[in-house]
Amino acid sequence: MSQQEIILNKPDDMHLHLRDGDMLSAVVEHSARDFARTIIMPNLVPPVTTVEDAMSYRQRILDALGGSGTSFEPLMTLYLTEVTTTYDLENAAALGMVKAVKLYPAGATTNSDSGVRDIPKSYHLFEKMAELGLPLLVHGEVTDADIDIFDREAVFIDRVLDPIRRTIPELRIVMEHVTTKNGIDYVGNADNKLCATLTTHHLMLNRNAMLAGGFRPHYYCLPILKREEHRQALRAAATSGDARFFLGTDSAPHPTHTKESACGCAGVFSAANSLGCLATVFEEEQALENLNSFTSLNGAKFYGLDINEVKMRLIRTSEPAVFPKNIKVGAETVTVFDPGMPIYWHVDHTTSL
Ligand code: NCD
Ligand code: ZN
Ligand code: ZN
Repeated sequence: MSQQEIILNKPDDMHLHLRDGDMLSAVVEHSARDFARTIIMPNLVPPVTTVEDAMSYRQRILDALGGSGTSFEPLMTLYLTEVTTTYDLENAAALGMVKAVKLYPAGATTNSDSGVRDIPKSYHLFEKMAELGLPLLVHGEVTDADIDIFDREAVFIDRVLDPIRRTIPELRIVMEHVTTKNGIDYVGNADNKLCATLTTHHLMLNRNAMLAGGFRPHYYCLPILKREEHRQALRAAATSGDARFFLGTDSAPHPTHTKESACGCAGVFSAANSLGCLATVFEEEQALENLNSFTSLNGAKFYGLDINEVKMRLIRTSEPAVFPKNIKVGAETVTVFDPGMPIYWHVDHTTSL
């Protein structure tokens, strides 16, 4: 008989967008339910660029949980801009509450206008981060108009990431939401200073899911979904148990109408059902024994955190799990990730272990 139950250390989501205000209030409980700790992306408007910003954002996240999520730990990040100073970084490292600094090439993705245009101008900051032990998280896509959108990650590796690593080999880096075989191979051949997060949706879908038989805006995200051969490489890496690959859902809520639009926003909201989807992926790859490493051990190790003591149970049922189609945010909705296939696994919230 196939496996019916999985016990995990409570997972960590090492790449999450919670937004702010009403949206934050609506989405945060979904992450707090299934994740112990999450790396919080700083791409608010305006972005989280200082320790003071990060401290007050962290408090807003905890307030939005209203005391119900006392065990939920938001791990804060700073958004690197062209005016970030070494003083900002020293301040961040001194307080310990900021775990990493995020590089968005300007214009690469949602709310990246304040990002960096000329990346070599930030090398002195990367040197300071290496000295302070602050990891650099990268949205790894170039933005040059002449580079095809499907090639942006591979070109980023050659033109941006590899030069940074050669110049500052001590810097610890996470390639966020890696989506290509090129990225997987690059991380696989690097030393353990370079890791990568993988999203739920890139493990489940290729670009046909988004484009064949009609355009599905709820699958539109950045980096964009790629060919099947890339998805296969991502699945092999995620399920391998290799400590350099760990979960970052990149759950990125947008109001439904802003995605179902003539110029739709990029982002998939997967916080509510990621773990059931991931168990399905690992089951298909006959690697359920490595799910805990991917969701709960590898990321904690990279960030120097203790493994969560709290355990969580996933159950396989004979009927597909029912997830909400959307969640309400005031008068709007956010559409929940629909993997397009039945999911037989869900988190058991009825018993505590
Ligand atoms: C993210 C967002 O909406 O903030 N969107 C996305 O498609 N992944 C930004 C990001 O992670 O690049
Ligand atoms: Zn990104
Ligand atoms: Zn993201």
